[in-house]
Amino acid sequence: MKFSKVLGAVVSLAGLAAAVPTPEGGLGTNGSEPFYHPLSDFDFQSINLALNQEWIELDLFNYGLARFSVEEFEAAGLDAEDRYLIQFMAEQEIGHAQLLTNILGENAAKQCTYQYNFTTVREFIDFCQKLTRFGESGVYGFLEHLNSRDAAQLLLQSITTEARQQMIFRQFEGLFPMPVWFETGITQSMAWTLLAPYIVSCPAENPRIEWTNFPALNITNNPNATGYYNDSIIGNDTTPAITHNRSEPLSYAGREVFFTWDAPGQNVSYNNSYVTNTTAGDARFVVWLSQLNVTYTELTDINGRSGKTYQPGDTVFGDSTAPIVNGTMFVAITDVNITVTPSNISALNDHIVAGPALYQSG
Ligand SMILES: *[C@@H]1O[C@H](CO)[C@@H](O)[C@H](O)[C@H]1NC(C)=O
Ligand SMILES: *[C@@H]1O[C@H](CO)[C@@H](O)[C@H](O)[C@H]1NC(C)=O
Ligand SMILES: *[C@@H]1O[C@H](CO)[C@@H](O)[C@H](O)[C@H]1NC(C)=O
Ligand SMILES: *[C@@H]1O[C@H](CO)[C@@H](O)[C@H](O)[C@H]1NC(C)=O
Ligand SMILES: *[C@@H]1O[C@H](CO)[C@@H](O)[C@H](O)[C@H]1NC(C)=O
Ligand SMILES: *[C@@H]1O[C@H](CO)[C@@H](O)[C@H](O)[C@H]1NC(C)=O
Ligand SMILES: *[C@@H]1O[C@H](CO)[C@@H](O)[C@H](O)[C@H]1NC(C)=O
Ligand SMILES: *[C@@H]1O[C@H](CO)[C@@H](O)[C@H](O)[C@H]1NC(C)=O
Ligand SMILES: *[C@@H]1O[C@H](CO)[C@@H](O)[C@H](O)[C@H]1NC(C)=O
Ligand SMILES: *[C@@H]1O[C@H](CO)[C@@H](O)[C@H](O)[C@H]1NC(C)=O
Ligand SMILES: *[C@@H]1O[C@H](CO)[C@@H](O)[C@H](O)[C@H]1NC(C)=O
Ligand SMILES: *[C@@H]1O[C@H](CO)[C@@H](O)[C@H](O)[C@H]1NC(C)=O
Repeated sequence: MKFSKVLGAVVSLAGLAAAVPTPEGGLGTNGSEPFYHPLSDFDFQSINLALNQEWIELDLFNYGLARFSVEEFEAAGLDAEDRYLIQFMAEQEIGHAQLLTNILGENAAKQCTYQYNFTTVREFIDFCQKLTRFGESGVYGFLEHLNSRDAAQLLLQSITTEARQQMIFRQFEGLFPMPVWFETGITQSMAWTLLAPYIVSCPAENPRIEWTNFPALNITNNPNATGYYNDSIIGNDTTPAITHNRSEPLSYAGREVFFTWDAPGQNVSYNNSYVTNTTAGDARFVVWLSQLNVTYTELTDINGRSGKTYQPGDTVFGDSTAPIVNGTMFVAITDVNITVTPSNISALNDHIVAGPALYQSG
């Protein structure tokens, strides 16, 4: 006994045997060489969509820094150190785009040209927190479903960085930095629907994005968080800060929310080369995607492609837990109210009439 123990130590020191004890189970832990590349079309299309997202973020952060003057940033409460943080985020995007390009290989999407509709620093910051919200949630929706666990590992390590960017932009906007207990996931088709309008033209060799682009959804009374109030009144002050209490007037349970949406068959995105589509039936419900939950409210006052609903007041785990609807979250119009949970959220794709849109609930 004694002898073999000593021998074991000697052998182990020589690097020849004796792994540290590991509980049974797990995947990808048997010592085989990781393979950081797509193993399916699903993998390629998911990661290539994420790459398109990284490219726009790189462009957006640099564009905003160049577009607005120092005086305009200062008037929005953002000083030189804040601007350097945005510049550093752009540099992070260079790294993320490089990583995903390495994963995808020579067919990886190249950078495109983009269009933005913001006209002030506050609107730029608001757009950044919204774009990074669907970038982050778009990856959470598919990460666990990739065939390549090794590629998922690398993507996870970039998307956690993007999550930090999203929160920092909320802080720059004077919002409560993280008003949820859980960050939600959405499907690739939902993320693509949200990203598509901002891409104007792409290199001809970029691979075609194979996810569905749903008809656009407009929340016509979306809470507007871009107002700038430097009045030190709690609940009203929206200067950049680590945190501000912001409940009302952004949103509350029972709030009426109004929608209009497009018919399918519209050409969208770069070179107008994608056509919106849906396989859903008639519009009947509004789906609210937030936290761990997919909840529905009835769509009423339906008139052609418009309607309204009321913001639900459900909480994640029941009384005294977090309200499901909070932060920058997702709503869409559906034909049915099927039950789905975070790991099978893609079952919703067949039932999306229009959307999602980002709802600025808190
Ligand atoms: C080790 O794990 C990899 C990935 O999980 C698998 O493809 C491979 O067949 C396994 N090799 C052995 C020897 O079990
Ligand atoms: C807020 O207002 C105060 C007092 O008018 C001013 O000194 C300060 O620079 C302003 N801060 C921001 C971030 O706008
Ligand atoms: C920009 O366009 C989006 C989507 O079309 C819209 O929701 C948003 O209100 C617009 N922003 C501004 C500042 O006009
Ligand atoms: C959304 O609705 C609002 C209010 O009717 C309107 O001002 C805005 O232009 C609409 N946006 C889009 C993208 O349709
Ligand atoms: C949001 O509010 C700001 C400030 O009150 C205003 O300038 C802007 O036009 C509003 N944006 C929208 C899309 O209504
Ligand atoms: C607080 O903000 C709202 C806009 O959300 C503004 O209309 C109002 O005047 C502000 N209230 C005070 C007391 O400054
Ligand atoms: C901030 O909001 C919380 C939750 O509503 C409340 O308990 C707290 O008193 C607020 N803080 C201040 C300083 O108003
Ligand atoms: C969102 O969370 C914040 C912070 O906990 C809270 O003040 C606010 O009331 C919540 N909003 C809604 C719509 O529940
Ligand atoms: C719309 O997109 C389809 C599919 O890419 C394309 O065949 C068609 O020419 C486009 N139509 C217009 C008007 O650009
Ligand atoms: C929309 O999707 C349906 C079902 O997949 C398909 O039959 C139809 O051709 C699509 N329409 C367009 C314009 O792509
Ligand atoms: C929200 O999701 C969690 C996790 O799936 C679940 O336990 C909870 O019951 C859901 N809450 C509601 C109100 O549906
Ligand atoms: C679906 O809607 C019906 C009423 O139309 C309701 O009874 C049912 O509880 C809803 N189910 C879900 C999962 O929201």
